[in-house]
Amino acid sequence: MNNSSINLLLVEDEAEQRLLIRTALESVGYQVDDVDSAEAAQKQLAQNNYNIIVSDWKLPGLSGEDLLEYVKQHSPQSGFILITAHSDASHAIGIIRAGADDYLAKPFEKQSLLFAINKLLYTQSIEAENNLLKNETKHRQKLLEMIGHSAAMNKLYQRIEKAAPTSATVMITGESGTGKELAARAIHQLSNRKDGVFLPVNCAAIPESLAEAELFGAEKGAYTGSSKTRIGKFEAANHGTIFLDEIGELPLILQSKLLRFLQEGTITRVGSNDEIKLNVRVVTATNRDLEEEVAKQAFREDLYYRLNVIPVTIPPLRHRQDDLVPLINHFIELFSQQHNVTPKKLSAAAFKALLAYAWPGNVRQLRNVIERLVLLSMDTVIQLQDVEDLELNSPKDIDTFSLPANGIDWESHEKDCLLQALSHCNNNRTQAAKLLNLGYKAFLYRLEKHGIK
Ligand SMILES: Nc1ncnc2c1ncn2[C@@H]1O[C@H](COP(=O)(O)OP(=O)(O)OP(=O)(O)O)[C@@H](O)[C@H]1O
Ligand SMILES: [Mg+2]
Repeated sequence: MNNSSINLLLVEDEAEQRLLIRTALESVGYQVDDVDSAEAAQKQLAQNNYNIIVSDWKLPGLSGEDLLEYVKQHSPQSGFILITAHSDASHAIGIIRAGADDYLAKPFEKQSLLFAINKLLYTQSIEAENNLLKNETKHRQKLLEMIGHSAAMNKLYQRIEKAAPTSATVMITGESGTGKELAARAIHQLSNRKDGVFLPVNCAAIPESLAEAELFGAEKGAYTGSSKTRIGKFEAANHGTIFLDEIGELPLILQSKLLRFLQEGTITRVGSNDEIKLNVRVVTATNRDLEEEVAKQAFREDLYYRLNVIPVTIPPLRHRQDDLVPLINHFIELFSQQHNVTPKKLSAAAFKALLAYAWPGNVRQLRNVIERLVLLSMDTVIQLQDVEDLELNSPKDIDTFSLPANGIDWESHEKDCLLQALSHCNNNRTQAAKLLNLGYKAFLYRLEKHGIK
């Protein structure tokens, strides 16, 4: 911190002393306000924030110790240095006990004063840094359930952390099983609504005829046979977050009711005219291309824009290869614990086979596969055979390969592919060539190049 951004308040009743100290402080660039009594200091404190207050002990009205007490209550973040005419130790101890950060005995050198201030500013900056770190750790823990530190995931975490504390609607898009619900929960957990409910609603799962009552509630007698007033999901989520999953499936009539809620902040139960004001944050998710739905007029354009204030996109797992290893390790540990089996390890070959797979079902599929491996492998080491037994068939689509940020060693990668293809096909070269979508001659040429017999 630059000295000129440090504000000091000097409290000293003797004019000459006051000027002397003030000049000393200003000579190193501090911003200084000075007053001649504790009462005047209190007035200053009501209007300004001070990093440090330097106060004489003996003052005409209230004493420096009274002022210290006042500061502890009204400006606890300010440091306090007392100047006293006494130099005996017991008096000094009393001052520190009362809560002063430091004291100086008169007469003192300019250098001792500057040193005391410097030391205190340093302690303050360490404390501020600690608090910041503590807060950051708390935040990170909320995101901790989300595993992966690829560049794409780090970007996602940043977006989530930015979106969370606001009340803006968030639209999460991503393929099935990429972690949309997990992201929605993280947004809720990191918001100031975290003590309220997080209420997931699957829009695709409610029958159209019941959807309105389900979401917005219904008055007693609104339907034949409805003998009780029914609270809808929105009311149930008051002061919390409602997560409208598969928002693209929301019937058109309900789209206009949702739009109304987003515009007015109110809902009406079925069979009632009364508007109920609610405070609910709306987070939605979809794996459909909603813009396309808008173009087809299957989804209201105005609603789309209202819902999509903060877009959050979760990339498919095949575009974040770097996340595979941490995810695999995480799920192995999770399921070993959950099913009470000795923690398993993956053999290098089994690991490789999993890394080579394209994971069209994303994290959910990976999670299921690892659970099965943990349960079904006989050994504490999961072998390549166990993985092969699952018969995961990677789509041959080459588009699904994404180059890791740190690149690959092409020659050894090529050799690896050739060897794996041969092993998959029990060394049948014709089949192995097909598996790699290579002509037979091209395949043989490459075998020779790598010295594979
Ligand atoms: N980054 C991640 N770290 C750890 N677990 C994850 C991660 N992403 C997803 N999962 C896990 O994968 C599973 C699927 O995630 P989730 O239900 O959030 O996906 P989704 O995108 O909502 O899927 P769908 O579109 O099918 O509803 C969950 O068990 C979730 O805990
Ligand atoms: Mg989901």
